[in-house]
Amino acid sequence: MNYIGSKFKLSSWIKEEISQKVEPKNKIFCDLFAGTGIIGRVFKKDAKQVISNDIEYYAYVLNRNYIGNHKNLKEKMEVIEYLNNLPLRDDGFIFNNYCSPANRLYFSDENGKKIDTIRIEIEKFKDDKDLYYFLLASLIESADKVANTASVYGAFLKKLKKTAQKEMILEPAIYEENENEHLVTQKDANEFIKEIKGDILYLDPPYNSRQYGANYHLLNTIAEYKEFEPKGKTGLRDYYKSPWCQKGKVKRVFEDLIKNADFEWIFMSYNNEGLLKSEYIKDIMSSYGEYYVIKRKYKKFKCKKNKKNLLFPFSEAIHSETIEYLHILHKRKS
Ligand SMILES: C[S@@+](CC[C@H](N)C(=O)[O-])C[C@H]1O[C@@H](n2cnc3c(N)ncnc32)[C@H](O)[C@@H]1O
Repeated sequence: MNYIGSKFKLSSWIKEEISQKVEPKNKIFCDLFAGTGIIGRVFKKDAKQVISNDIEYYAYVLNRNYIGNHKNLKEKMEVIEYLNNLPLRDDGFIFNNYCSPANRLYFSDENGKKIDTIRIEIEKFKDDKDLYYFLLASLIESADKVANTASVYGAFLKKLKKTAQKEMILEPAIYEENENEHLVTQKDANEFIKEIKGDILYLDPPYNSRQYGANYHLLNTIAEYKEFEPKGKTGLRDYYKSPWCQKGKVKRVFEDLIKNADFEWIFMSYNNEGLLKSEYIKDIMSSYGEYYVIKRKYKKFKCKKNKKNLLFPFSEAIHSETIEYLHILHKRKS
């Protein structure tokens, strides 16, 4: 998934840098702002346990599948095939609120109907949690591939783009199988940090004011599938506003998190365009132990801007290259 702040392309580098400082084998590794779960996924086979947390429900669904699922689900491909071949219904929430009948062209009508049909059917599997989250994650990933947006869900395109015209095929969200039990949660990072302890803490908080709940609202709507009154032209829903995206609050939550973290090693990804300045991060982290920093140039996620086809062009600064920092703290025992 094309995700704001995704570490997909940086995951091998991050794993290598972390492993040079601390051997992940048999360690408890926590990915506290897990998003798509890619960093937890690269540590899943080495760590004794991965703790994967994110405040957004769609992220919980992805991580509950990619990290939480670790046993073979024998029937999974059969169910995928069954869901792909259901007769389409036209009475669902997505088709009626996020397709042409509502003048919100987030999906083609056919795909909107297919998302509804599959989502409603998935509910019948809710007693088998492993299968349920595997299916939900598969639907979120597959729907995202045919969304008629310029990457995020803050706006839709006026005309269906090529990928949005294709029929959505439910593809399996394949996870790695292994013996270890992992923990997946959907909590506020600053609250959750007080409940856990471990060896390696990886932090990848939001770094600017773009709220994930607003930019990925439709993924939460598909995942939760509870009716509500969509607002305005874009059909936005109420969403969680993270203090990590707010200039006036981010320093407090950062300091509080570093203070309360009961982990020997803390690694934090942040870039040079973030709300927190590198000098400030260094000052705070150094006061809790030995501090190091590693930098790397990086071509970051760009919103594919196509002004002509955007109904609500959003003004996002597009930087072709940024500097990605990995701030490291070897925390003193308190
Ligand atoms: C930069 S993204 C993480 C990207 C992730 N590493 C990846 O590669 O997909 C930041 C994440 O922090 C989450 N988030 C924002 N505020 C949070 C909070 N207070 N507690 C937990 N998660 C939060 C967002 O939902 C988002 O998924």
